[in-house]
Amino acid sequence: MYLLDLPGIIEGAKDGKGRGRQVIAVARTCSLIFIVLDVLKPLGHKRLIEHELEGFGLRLNKQPPNITFRKKDKGGINFQTTCAQSELDLETVKSILSEYRIHNADITLRYDATSDDLIDVIEGNRVYVPCIYLLNKIDQISIEELDIIYKIPHCVPISAHHKWNFDDLLEKMWEYLQLVRIALVWGSSVKHQPQKVGKDHILCDEDVVQIVKKV
Ligand SMILES: *[C@@H]1O[C@H](CO)[C@@H](O)[C@H](O)[C@H]1NC(C)=O
Repeated sequence: MYLLDLPGIIEGAKDGKGRGRQVIAVARTCSLIFIVLDVLKPLGHKRLIEHELEGFGLRLNKQPPNITFRKKDKGGINFQTTCAQSELDLETVKSILSEYRIHNADITLRYDATSDDLIDVIEGNRVYVPCIYLLNKIDQISIEELDIIYKIPHCVPISAHHKWNFDDLLEKMWEYLQLVRIALVWGSSVKHQPQKVGKDHILCDEDVVQIVKKV
């Protein structure tokens, strides 16, 4: 596991500004993204960065749509839903599909889906990555303001300068990576090769560690 510090995303990044496409292409391969925001102006920048990332097929803190989509050679559009839909009906689905020149397909919607969800499934090259927003410079705001900031979903307020709240950040990082606190260790610190250990295990020089992902 490694941590990459990527260049900042600017407006127009998804269209290539500031080598934005290369930066976002790297972000697409990550297991977790941290977006560092200035706590004094978090929401505008958050929206801008999300817009750029989404325009390049990244979906932050979202599950892949629970939609079955299968193209066929013939038979027309077979459209099924397992629950009420507030946006998508057969006509809407047909018109979206026709923009992709798809006239034969099986589609099942298993939740109340949006047109954007359906387009994500049709285009098929989306990646779903967990993201934590780091709201930096909390040393410059009041406790009352901090209470409001804490309501932003997926955020951890910090002060990089004073190293405030890093424990919270680490905790959330573990949670979002869905890593369990066990590792397989090979080397002189363990009896069995490999051996499962917890996070408090003390390693020896040149030990090899494999972090095991929760399934
Ligand atoms: C999709 O929806 C079905 C039916 O509601 C459910 O059984 C299934 O677990 C869902 N799958 C995912 C990946 O959420």
